[in-house]
Amino acid sequence: MIRELEIVRPDDWHLHLRDGTILKAVIPYTSETFGRAIVMPNLNPPIISVKEAIMYKERISAACPDDHSFKPLMTIYLTESTDLMDVAEGFSRNLISAVKLYPAGATTNSSHGINDFKKLYKVFEKMEEIGCPLCVHGEVVDPQVDIFDREYVFIDKVLDPIIRTFPSLKVVLEHITTQEAVDYVRISKKNIAATITTHHLVINRNFILAGGIKPHYYCLPVAKRENHRIALLNAASSGNSSFFLGTDSAPHFDTDKESACGCAGCFTAPNTIPILAQLFEQEGSLEKLEHFTSINGANFYDLPLNSERIKLIKEKDPIEFSNKVFTPEGEITVFDPGFPVSWSVKSI
Ligand code: NCD
Ligand code: ZN
Repeated sequence: MIRELEIVRPDDWHLHLRDGTILKAVIPYTSETFGRAIVMPNLNPPIISVKEAIMYKERISAACPDDHSFKPLMTIYLTESTDLMDVAEGFSRNLISAVKLYPAGATTNSSHGINDFKKLYKVFEKMEEIGCPLCVHGEVVDPQVDIFDREYVFIDKVLDPIIRTFPSLKVVLEHITTQEAVDYVRISKKNIAATITTHHLVINRNFILAGGIKPHYYCLPVAKRENHRIALLNAASSGNSSFFLGTDSAPHFDTDKESACGCAGCFTAPNTIPILAQLFEQEGSLEKLEHFTSINGANFYDLPLNSERIKLIKEKDPIEFSNKVFTPEGEITVFDPGFPVSWSVKSI
């Protein structure tokens, strides 16, 4: 049995760091383990220009512990009036690494997002030309569409027409939750990839709804049936270069989650890599973990692998993770996978 494993330092290709006191409280959990992260722009108000992304990056760097060599990779939030020259200049000067598309109203702080995707076609054309990745929250918002069907309807009705029109556009279908999304990405060309979260590899919809409502498992896209979780796990542990880790770690105060209208998001930054090691070990595919966490995403984003490595150690007993993070404004619950985790992470 493998008890120690050394891998290239991981990257997180989809992360919410928020701002202010939450940013300060949550960033060390990411920066101690991860080399880089694609930072989501859905602040309130959102980061919609390169100038705002630069200022946000400065706040992130200031909040990051000095002894962590973490590099935030910035994104901007597409609106129907995004300036394509701002995108082109920001990307060519390495000030942003991707652009994020939120359908209006799909998730947390997405009210400034897109209603009419055709309005973005000039921006997509430019992005295709310069190789700038488009990160997509892939859910339709039509109230007529059942919430469990919103991802695959989006692929069919919105994403596929965009990809057919811009066949070389680099697209990351974010936080996929369905067999249909796995299949779509698997048969697509290599410019189409997907991130998979830690929590969607662990939970199905029973975690949220069976035996009492569990708001800390509620996220968007919402977890689906068990067969979809298994499809995601197979994709993540296959080593296929089109699938990589985007934790979508999304901290919210407990008071906002444990509410009559609770916020969507699971906070997985503190225990993501130990949980993934446990899962991949159970799958008999520990040797594929590094591809998922540290190689495939960097290759997709045309970035070098991190030069540092981390060591994963299987302890004799399960690790006691703290289940809360405390901030001056409130508590944030850490994701509970519901099974014992015996892997710990050491920087080397
Ligand atoms: C994210 C958040 O809280 O910002 N929530 C979530 O459920 N994943 C937004 C998102 O990525 O959809
Ligand atoms: Zn997210």
